[in-house]
Amino acid sequence: MKTLVTGGAGLIGSHIVERLLERGDEVRVVDSLSPPCHAAEIVPGWMPSDVEFIHASVCDKEAMTRALQGVDAVFHLAATQGLLPEFSQFWQVNSAGTALLYELIVENSLPVRKIVVSSSQAVYGEGCYRCPTHGAVYPGARPLAQLEAGEWEHLCSQCGARLEPQATPESDVRPATMYAQSKYSQETIGFHLGETYRVPTVCLRYAITQGPRQSLTNAYSGVCSLFATRIASGSRPVIYEDGRQTRDYVSVSDVAKANLFVMDHPEADFEVFNVGTGNSVTVLNLVAEIGRQLGQTVEPEVVGEFRLGDIRHFSPDVSKLAALGWRAKDGLDETVRRYVEWFVTQGDVPDRFPEAEAIMRRQGVIRPVATRTEKAG
Ligand SMILES: NC(=O)c1ccc[n+]([C@@H]2O[C@H](COP(=O)([O-])OP(=O)(O)OC[C@H]3O[C@@H](n4cnc5c(N)ncnc54)[C@H](O)[C@@H]3O)[C@@H](O)[C@H]2O)c1
Ligand SMILES: [Zn+2]
Repeated sequence: MKTLVTGGAGLIGSHIVERLLERGDEVRVVDSLSPPCHAAEIVPGWMPSDVEFIHASVCDKEAMTRALQGVDAVFHLAATQGLLPEFSQFWQVNSAGTALLYELIVENSLPVRKIVVSSSQAVYGEGCYRCPTHGAVYPGARPLAQLEAGEWEHLCSQCGARLEPQATPESDVRPATMYAQSKYSQETIGFHLGETYRVPTVCLRYAITQGPRQSLTNAYSGVCSLFATRIASGSRPVIYEDGRQTRDYVSVSDVAKANLFVMDHPEADFEVFNVGTGNSVTVLNLVAEIGRQLGQTVEPEVVGEFRLGDIRHFSPDVSKLAALGWRAKDGLDETVRRYVEWFVTQGDVPDRFPEAEAIMRRQGVIRPVATRTEKAG
C-alpha cells in the first residue's frame, strides 16, 4: 500500500503516519507547515525519515499531481482551522483543497481505492438539546445579549426552561461558523464526487482531539497545550464563560486508530461517523486533570468573558461507529497523561496566550460581560 496523508505533519496526521509505517505501508505526506500550527516552515523532528515529504499546499495543483502518483489511499487532514475571521481561507483550503483532490484523481484516472476525509463535530453547531416540556430542541447560537448578560446555558425559546444537552447523532447537522460550513462542504464534496466517480469515501467528525505533538505554537486552539504552557510558566489558565461548558476530549491515538479502522472496513464506505469517547467533561475538569498530572495545584482564572463562536456543551453520539466494531479506548486521565508525558520533554515552552488573546480581543472574538473577575468555584 502506498498511502498519502495530507496535513501529515500535524497532530492527527502524524499519528496516522506512525501507524501506517508500523503496518508496513509506504507513506507520502503533503504539508504546507503552515502557521499557527508550525512556527517556522521546518519539518518537525518527529517526522520519520522513511516518509516521502512534499512541502506544499493541498491547493497546489502541480504538487498534488505529484503527491497522488502511485497512491492507493488518501487520509485528507490538511485544513485551515480556528476562530479567527479568516473566512475566505476556510473555503480556499478546506473546500477547494478537497475538490482538487478528486479533480486530479478524475482528470488523471488515478486508481485511488479510498479517501478518508477529516471533518469535525463543528458541523453540528450547538448540537442537540432537550427541553423538559418541549422535547428535542436544536438551538441556534446563544444571543449576544444573553452572553453579555453572563447567562451561559441554552434556554428554551418557547418556555425559557434551561435546556439539557443530549448526545448528538450524525443526522443532526447544523453548521454555523465559516469553519464549520467549510468542514461540512468537505463532506458533501467528498461524498458527491466519490459516488459519481466511484472513489469510496468516508468522513469522520472528530471530537476535541488531544495528545502528544499538539502544536505548542498555536495559541488559538489545542486546549491541552494552551493550559499546560500556561501552568508550566506559572500563570493561571484563563477560562471563558464559567468553565462548566462540556466537551468530549478524545485521544489522538484513538482518532488515528479510527481512521485506519474505517480505511480497512468497506462497510464504512460513503458513511459519516462521529469519533469521540461519548463522555463529555467540563473545561474545569480538564484543567484540573492537566494540573494534577503536572503535579501542580491550579487555580484557573474565570475572567467573566466569552468567545464568539464557542458552543456551550457538546457530546457526540458515538453509537454508529460502535455498531461497526470501533470504540475509543482512552479516558480523560489517560489522554491527559500521554499529553503531559510528552509535554514535559519539550523544554521551556513560551506562553503564547497573551499575544493570541490580544489579537482575539482586537478582532472582537473575545467579549466582556457585566461581571468582571471571579474565581472558579
Ligand atoms: N484537533 C482537533 O481537535 C480536531 C477536531 C475536529 C476536526 N479536526 C480536523 O482534523 C484535521 C487535522 O487536524 P489537527 O488537529 O491534526 O491539526 P494540526 O493543525 O495539528 O495539523 C494540520 C496540518 O495541516 C497542515 N496544513 C494546513 N493548511 C495546509 C495546506 N493548505 N496544505 C497542506 N497542509 C496544510 C498544517 O501545516 C498542519 O501540519 C483537520 O482537518 C481538522 O479540521 C481536528
Ligand atoms: Zn420548552
